[in-house]
Amino acid sequence: MLLEVRDMHLHYGKVEAVKGVSLELREGQIITLIGANGAGKSSILRAISGLQRPSSGEIRYRDKRVDRVAPDKIVDMGIVHVPEGRRLFKLMTVRENLRMGAYLNKDGSEIAEGMEKVFDLFPILREKQNQQSGRLSGGQQQMVAMGRALMARPKVLLLDEPSLGLAPKLIDEIADLIVQMRDSGLSIVLVEQNANLALTLSDHGYVMETGSIALHGPSKDLLADPEVARAYLGA
Ligand SMILES: Nc1ncnc2c1ncn2[C@@H]1O[C@H](COP(=O)(O)OP(=O)(O)OP(=O)(O)O)[C@@H](O)[C@H]1O
Ligand SMILES: [Mg+2]
Repeated sequence: MLLEVRDMHLHYGKVEAVKGVSLELREGQIITLIGANGAGKSSILRAISGLQRPSSGEIRYRDKRVDRVAPDKIVDMGIVHVPEGRRLFKLMTVRENLRMGAYLNKDGSEIAEGMEKVFDLFPILREKQNQQSGRLSGGQQQMVAMGRALMARPKVLLLDEPSLGLAPKLIDEIADLIVQMRDSGLSIVLVEQNANLALTLSDHGYVMETGSIALHGPSKDLLADPEVARAYLGA
């Protein structure tokens, strides 16, 4: 197993936000976490990336415990988080933002190579590389956020609500890019409120309800499940 969360609980003070969650990510897969506001999706991603310490349970990456490992070390190990809301340095250029993603790398030629790869995947960013990030469209800002993550040369990408606030046409474009990233060898944990999109892109889906996994299964089965459709797909 590439990445495994086992019976994880996570508290904010006395509030238990994650109540015994287990999930598995295999190499080359996309798994998705869907569910309502406050279900605990982002908390799980923050725990995996070392930003929040679980109160109990285990997180394993390539069979090593990582639930006590510092965030920069997690990045170094190959797990990179694209946070909710993108968190760009809005006054900095696209290029400068991308450069920040490689902050652990001192090798100039590797950085240049990484940037070329990002520009190949997101050609619009090559055109806009010297523009202020805050002036780009929402979809382009999402590309900068994903490109910045790729600069750290991850094996696993944690994507938190990449489609949020985007127009339908841009959502399709971001969806294609997520599949392209997977096809290039990345494994992805995708958190989405857009359950339809998430289940269409992913191999396996986990449906969260107030801190727990209510059900999970192959995404195509969840898409075909009338209960899931009624509760989550707006059918
Ligand atoms: N820093 C924090 N301090 C206290 N409570 C928090 C904190 N972050 C999240 N919570 C609470 O933990 C629970 C889970 O939040 P989380 O952000 O993980 O949910 P989510 O599924 O990502 O929701 P959303 O769809 O709104 O992004 C919520 O009840 C939230 O209010
Ligand atoms: Mg969230």
